[in-house]
Amino acid sequence: MPQPETRKFRPTIKHLSHTTMNKQEVILCENLPDTLGSALGQCPHDKVFVLTDEHTHRLCLPLLRDVEELTDAGEIVIGPEDTHKNLATLTSVWAALSNGGATRHSLMVNLGGGMVTDLGGFAASTFKRGIPYINIPTTLLAMVDAAVGGKTGINFNGLKNEVGAFAPAASVIIETEFLRTLDRRNFFSGYAEMLKHGLISTTEHWAELLAFDTDDIDYARLKAMVGRSVQVKEGIVHEDPLEHGIRKALNLGHTVGHAFESLALAEGRPVLHGYAVAWGMVCELYLSCLQAGFPQEKMRQTVRFIKDNYGSFGFDCKEYDRLYDLMKHDKKNTAGVINFTLLKDVGEIALNQTTDRETVFGAFDFFRETMG
Ligand code: GLY
Repeated sequence: MPQPETRKFRPTIKHLSHTTMNKQEVILCENLPDTLGSALGQCPHDKVFVLTDEHTHRLCLPLLRDVEELTDAGEIVIGPEDTHKNLATLTSVWAALSNGGATRHSLMVNLGGGMVTDLGGFAASTFKRGIPYINIPTTLLAMVDAAVGGKTGINFNGLKNEVGAFAPAASVIIETEFLRTLDRRNFFSGYAEMLKHGLISTTEHWAELLAFDTDDIDYARLKAMVGRSVQVKEGIVHEDPLEHGIRKALNLGHTVGHAFESLALAEGRPVLHGYAVAWGMVCELYLSCLQAGFPQEKMRQTVRFIKDNYGSFGFDCKEYDRLYDLMKHDKKNTAGVINFTLLKDVGEIALNQTTDRETVFGAFDFFRETMG
């Protein structure tokens, strides 16, 4: 068994208001129109284009009507959901920019969930070799993960995020008031990435996430936790923007999770990304206990939270080979060797871990026995 390459990641947990990550400024805002107005003021441009999907165009864009800097903005509206995160939609955004008179001094504002921020970021980073953009994430998943960290792209050739670029936004403006109208499933989808940030950072942050009352949400507390969660990601991305090392910590739960997500999609029963990640974390915490000495009680507490809030993912032992093959083809791997991020403890990260087929199948057995 290879020696775990262990890293401790200890972010400073303080209230996030205005910090910088490379070129990217992440702002947990109090007043969206004012914050956007000043972010636009600080980013020289000749014309602004606002990208929304059909939902955020109807529900969120009206909240920006008082932003003076947007008076003459061009509006680009695309279809919602992951099915539209493709080359045809990207082409339509490039065409709208080009036909709308965008120059290399123009600026894009992406208002929406992860699909809008990923695709919009990629459109901006490639149009005229790159124009600046501002992300305003409207879902929890986009706030704590997709919109932060500079990963942009589209799905291609049947593969998720197959084409894209690392291209940080000029600013990411987080307005947690959007979360008040988020449905429960999308809330929990984003919360899985927060749980991941808890596991890779500090016992305090992990424990507060498990203790949070998700049935009767205290939005002020949630806002503070979103701030801490973003800081975890931001700190890691700042250290390793191109994912050569510590950024792989953010892949916890994703190696198995992506296989669950792909299997579910192929079988016509798609699941939300965060649900797949939560279920993937169950398997990867089991592997962490087995291979890296992660404390069993902390695994049990985390697994209980996931079981109670995410339910289970159904599969039988005839699907183990298929799941294993899906994991081998994940783009995070090299030469077909499955690469895991595991934990020695909360905040103690073991990167580049490998294991054998039987052990992975053991993790699937554990999942089915524990999650029922
Ligand atoms: N979503 C993981 C990352 O941004 O690296």
